Amino acid sequence: MSLRTLVLLKPDAVRRGLVGAILSRYEAKGLTIVAMEQRTIDAAVADRHYAEHVEKAFYPPLRDFVTSGPLVALVLEGDEAVEIVRALNGATDGRKAAPGTIRGDYSISNQQNLVHGSDSPESAEREIAIWFPGL
Ligand code: RTP
Ligand code: MG
Repeated sequence: MSLRTLVLLKPDAVRRGLVGAILSRYEAKGLTIVAMEQRTIDAAVADRHYAEHVEKAFYPPLRDFVTSGPLVALVLEGDEAVEIVRALNGATDGRKAAPGTIRGDYSISNQQNLVHGSDSPESAEREIAIWFPGL
C-alpha cells in the first residue's frame, strides 16, 4: 500500500546547508517527492502543527525555533513511508540517534534535530492537510 507522510526540514537544516544532503537520503531510499516548498511559518501554524505539544514545557523554545527562519515542507510517498521516514530520521535526540540516521549523523541536539516526520498515518493525514491543503 502506498502511503504519504509529511516531512519538515527544519530551520537548522536550511541554515546549515543540509537540505540537499537530507533530501538525497529520502530519494535514494526510493521515496517520491509529491510536494515541496520552502516557507517561513508564524506561531499560529507552529501551534497547529505541534498541537500535541503546545502545553509542554519544551514547546515555547520549540515554537521559537521552528519560526526562526525558512524551513522546507514536503510530502513523501511510498510503501510504509511513515515508518521509513521515522527510521531514516533516527531518535529524537541527535546525541542518542544511531549513526547512519539523519539525526545521528548531523545533529547533537534534542531540539535542533533537523527533521520532522509524521508519527502515524493519522498524523500524516492531519499534517498534510495543514501544510498542503490541496493534496
Ligand atoms: P518530530 O515530531 O519533529 O518528527 O520529532 P519526534 O516525533 O521524534 O519528537 P516529538 O516528541 O514529536 O517532539 C517534537 C520536536 O520537539 C522538539 N523537542 N524538544 N525536551 C526537549 O527539549 C524536546 N523534546 C522534543 C524536537 O525538535 C522534536 O523533534
Ligand atoms: Mg513527533
